[in-house]
Amino acid sequence: MTTGDLPEVMAIEQASFPNPWSEVTFRGEIQNDGISFPLVAVERAEKRVVGYIIYWKIQDEIQINNIAVHPDFRGLGVGKAMMRNILDAVRAQGAIFATLEVRISNKPARVLYEKLGFEIIGLRKDYYAHPAEDALVLGLNI
Ligand SMILES: CC(C)(COP(=O)(O)OP(=O)(O)OC[C@H]1O[C@@H](n2cnc3c(N)ncnc32)[C@H](O)[C@@H]1OP(=O)(O)O)[C@@H](O)C(=O)NCCC(=O)NCCS
Repeated sequence: MTTGDLPEVMAIEQASFPNPWSEVTFRGEIQNDGISFPLVAVERAEKRVVGYIIYWKIQDEIQINNIAVHPDFRGLGVGKAMMRNILDAVRAQGAIFATLEVRISNKPARVLYEKLGFEIIGLRKDYYAHPAEDALVLGLNI
């Protein structure tokens, strides 16, 4: 992800979350070299950004902080491909554990994570706002 991707990334973010990240937050991730890894999935023919994933790598653990796919491109395997891609990459770099948070009601995301082998390791009460909701903390030995 580069700053040039941000118009497309922001459109996906706003279409995907009730409390979207601001552009400033994405810029901060792009600048947080060595810790944050913001990546985009690009559709080949028209070079459209169809999704993105952002994870932090701290020693041998990663935390997936954001993932979204453009509504027109969901259900086509893009989310799973992005997840597999980063898990393979960080495994090769020696990472051993991945975590993420997900709204309890977010069925599509929960199915995706479950199919990749993530398991529930915790619950954060009232973690989300607009609407207020608990977060499940999921973990994966990678
Ligand atoms: C969650 C999200 C990233 C999934 O991306 P996607 O590209 O649509 O997912 P994929 O096509 O790769 O599907 C992965 C698996 O999840 C399952 N899945 C996807 N959407 C689903 C849905 N609406 N209901 C049930 N299962 C679903 C599929 O069965 C698929 O498994 P399969 O490959 O064995 O068939 C996408 O729905 C999204 O952007 N949602 C809004 C943002 C969001 O909630 N992000 C997660 C925050 S924690």
